[in-house]
Amino acid sequence: MHPLRNAANLAVACAMLALSAGLSHATDTEAQPPPQSPPAFGEETIDPGEAAFIDFIEKVTIERLKGQFPPGSEPVLRDAHPKTHVLVRAEFIVLDNLPETLRYGVFKEARTFDALIRFSAGGIEVQDDSVPQANGMAIKLFGVEGEKLLENERDAETQDFVMINNFPSFFVRNLVDYQAVHEALGMEDPTAGTAEFFRNHPEEARAVMTMRGSEPLSSPFQARYWSQTPFKLGPHATKFSANPISVPPVAPGSGPDFLRDVALEQISEGDIYFEFLVQVQTDPVAMPVEDSLVVWDEEKAPFERVALVRIPKQDIDIEKSREIAESLTFNPWHSLPDHRPIGAINRARKAIYEALSEFRHERNGIVREEPRELPILN
Ligand code: HEM
Repeated sequence: MHPLRNAANLAVACAMLALSAGLSHATDTEAQPPPQSPPAFGEETIDPGEAAFIDFIEKVTIERLKGQFPPGSEPVLRDAHPKTHVLVRAEFIVLDNLPETLRYGVFKEARTFDALIRFSAGGIEVQDDSVPQANGMAIKLFGVEGEKLLENERDAETQDFVMINNFPSFFVRNLVDYQAVHEALGMEDPTAGTAEFFRNHPEEARAVMTMRGSEPLSSPFQARYWSQTPFKLGPHATKFSANPISVPPVAPGSGPDFLRDVALEQISEGDIYFEFLVQVQTDPVAMPVEDSLVVWDEEKAPFERVALVRIPKQDIDIEKSREIAESLTFNPWHSLPDHRPIGAINRARKAIYEALSEFRHERNGIVREEPRELPILN
């Protein structure tokens, strides 16, 4: 095994120990901590070892990306979702009949925001579209007033909503399992490594198979996408989702980039609509914030429509739009406090997306800043 991998494995073991120490550090002779009471609505529970573990995941992820893109191999692509199907101009139309309980953040009042949407493929490497894989839909709203969450981008005017198709929740429960899967992927025999992990984690195996899908997508505009992890909506914990409501089904195409081709064809023919939905947590135990594998039961907490996403008919210069897509960063922490990401997976995403995006931009010689005006894509 490569010495770096050995070191990484050792570090994982140490970090896992540190993380579990936060939960069980009492010895037999010490008083045991009182049993934990169930979480309140939207409550987060942060292990003492979490920050160090996130730091570790960030370092391992940057090392992996450096290995994937040695100097001279620029442009460095995103560590996750590196393949852009298409970047489109859109409108995010907040509905005017929302109940008071949902009127927070960008849903406070009926209003139309300009938006950009990047549709992407979720593999760690760029693959042919015939390979079944998770796909992403990342929405960036423009002209969003109010102080934002990221310390160095407080005055940004954007709000991002980042989603994946095929499955309503994420494929791992927590950060330890997330890193274990990525460790297995980096092993000399990744197939054996991941098979071992998923043998011991059957629910995660089912989730990852569903996320990957058994069939390739036929159009990025025909999938339903989910936030998978929870976010605040004012005082509530919620998940959100975008559901296509206008495009008639087409059969999967052929060629390595048929998802881009079909998307360009569909937006050159007419407007495309998604409904944007939120699901409010109605039971803090059955719909946990910290276990990102648990699907929140739609019967007990139905999704409610809060906005429409309109992708107007448009012609796109694919090269220009690809260049703009590479200059952008979609990050769930590009957010108003009213939409704050919550739960361990989201807490980890804060430092990791920033660090990875910074590395990518620096290596590509691109200034990293949140746009203030909708760019022209043709
Ligand atoms: C600990 C968990 C996660 C880690 C470490 C992680 C890491 C990353 C990184 C490093 C990027 C690229 C950032 C950049 O260079 O700009 C990215 C992009 C992305 N991630 Fe995650 N991610 C995690 C969880 C999730 C979850 C739960 C979702 C579900 C919605 C998700 C969806 C996406 C999407 C759609 C993109 C592409 C965004 C774009 O179009 O630019 N990720 N992720």
